[in-house]
Amino acid sequence: MKPQTPPKTYRVKSFGCQMNVYDGERMGELLDGQGLTPAPEGEDADLVVLNTCHIREKAAEKIYSDIGRLTKGKTQKKAPMIAVAGCVAQAEGEEIMSRAPAVSMVVGPQAYHRLPDMLDKAVKGERATDTDMPAIAKFDSLPARKRRQPTAFLTVQEGCDKFCTYCVVPYTRGAEISRPYNHLIAEARKLIEAGAKEITLLGQNVNAWSGEDDKGRAVGLAGLIRSLATLDGLERIRYTTSHPNDMEDDLIAAHGEVDKLMPYLHLPVQSGSDRVLKAMNRAHTAESYLKLLERFRSARPDIALSGDFIVGFPGETEGEFEETLSLIDEVRYAAAFSFKYSPRPGTPAATMNGQIAPEVMDDRLQRLQARIARDQFAFNKATVGKTCSVLIERKGKHPGQWLGKSPWLQSVWFEGDVQLGDIVEARIAEAGPNSLGGELLQPVTA
Ligand code: 5AD
Ligand code: SF4
Repeated sequence: MKPQTPPKTYRVKSFGCQMNVYDGERMGELLDGQGLTPAPEGEDADLVVLNTCHIREKAAEKIYSDIGRLTKGKTQKKAPMIAVAGCVAQAEGEEIMSRAPAVSMVVGPQAYHRLPDMLDKAVKGERATDTDMPAIAKFDSLPARKRRQPTAFLTVQEGCDKFCTYCVVPYTRGAEISRPYNHLIAEARKLIEAGAKEITLLGQNVNAWSGEDDKGRAVGLAGLIRSLATLDGLERIRYTTSHPNDMEDDLIAAHGEVDKLMPYLHLPVQSGSDRVLKAMNRAHTAESYLKLLERFRSARPDIALSGDFIVGFPGETEGEFEETLSLIDEVRYAAAFSFKYSPRPGTPAATMNGQIAPEVMDDRLQRLQARIARDQFAFNKATVGKTCSVLIERKGKHPGQWLGKSPWLQSVWFEGDVQLGDIVEARIAEAGPNSLGGELLQPVTA
C-alpha cells in the first residue's frame, strides 16, 4: 500500500449491538485525541471506521459490500482510508486483509485502544491488523468520556463464558471480564457532568458483573446500580443484556427498591422448548425462566419484559416451535427481538444435523413476530391514560414536536415547550404498535 495523506476527518459506522455503539463512540474519542474531527453529516470523511457485527451471516457479509461502495465512490465522492473494527474484524481479520486490499486497518474489539498507532502505520503505507485480546483491559488506555447526550451507554462487563452452541460472541469478544467499580463510577460521573440523565449499563452478560465497592465489599450488578443511583444528576438507570443463569436475588430486589432503576428487563430465552434449550447449551429450562420472570413481576408489578428468540435452530420441530409460542403467550412481552437461526463458522450448532429449510424458518419467524407484535401493541394500549416521566431524546420532524422515552422504553411523541434532556411528566393519550402519543403535563427536571 502507498503512503497516505493523514486523515483530518473521520466517520465511525457502527452495526449490531449497543456495545458496538459504545465502542464506536470510544474510537471516535481516540481519533479526536489524534486531532481528527468527525466528518459533518452528508460530507466525505477522510477515514471511515466500519465497526462490524458477526452475530448473523447477513450482518457479517454486509462488510464487503460496504467496502466496495466506499472504494467505488458510491457512499462518498472520494474513497476514504478504511478501518474495519468490531467482531467481523476479530473473526475474519486475515480474510478481510486478503479479500479487500483497500482496507488499511483491521482492529478487534479488545484492541481498538491501539488505533492511533495503527493510524500512524497506515499513513506510512503499512497495513496493520490487531486482533489481540490483551490481558490488560483496553479501558485503561482510553481517554476520558466527553459525550454530550441525555442518554449514554456504559460498558461494565464484556465477553461471554456461556458458549451457547449457536453463538460467536465467546470467540469474538473473549472471556467474561468485569470493569472495576471505581472506574465505572468515575466514567459515570463524567457522563453525568457532560449531561447524561440516563445511563444504560452494557455487557454481553451484564448481570455477571462483579467487583469490589469503595469499602472493599464484594458487590454484584445490583450493588453497582445502588451506588450509581446515589449520584446527583443521574435520573435513570438501565442495563442490558442479562442471562437467566446469572441472576442474583439483589438485582430482583433492586427493581422494587431503587426508583432510578427503570421498570424494564431484557432477558433472552431463545426457545420455549427444553430439548432445544439443552441443544443450545442454555443451561436453563422454560419453566425456570418463567419462574424468574415471576419474581421480577412480584418485585416490580409494572415491569416491561423483553426477550430474544431464535427460530429454526437445528432439529427444531413444529411442536418445539409451538412451545416457544406458548411461552410467549404466557409471558406477554412488551417487546422482543427474534431471528432466524444463522449457522456461524466455528460454532457447534453449525455442523449439527437437522438444519432447517429457509422457508420453514421464514414461516416460523412470521408467526412468532405476529404474536410479539400483538403483545407489544397490547402493552402499549395498557399505558393509555397513565401519567409517566418521559426523557426527551430528540426533536421530531415538525416544529415543537419531540420524541422521548417512557420508563418502559416506549417511544413517546408529543408537542410542547421543552428541551433535549428534560424529564417531563406526560399523560399517554394514544397508543400505536410501536410508539405512544403523549400530552405534556409539567416539566419534572430541567
Ligand atoms: N443465529 C441467529 N440468532 C443469533 N443470535 C445469536 N447468535 C445467533 C445465530 N447464530 C441472537 C440471540 C442473541 C441475540 C443477540 O442474537 O437471540 O440473544
Ligand atoms: Fe452468545 Fe449465549 Fe453468550 Fe449470549 S450467553 S453472548 S447468546 S454465548
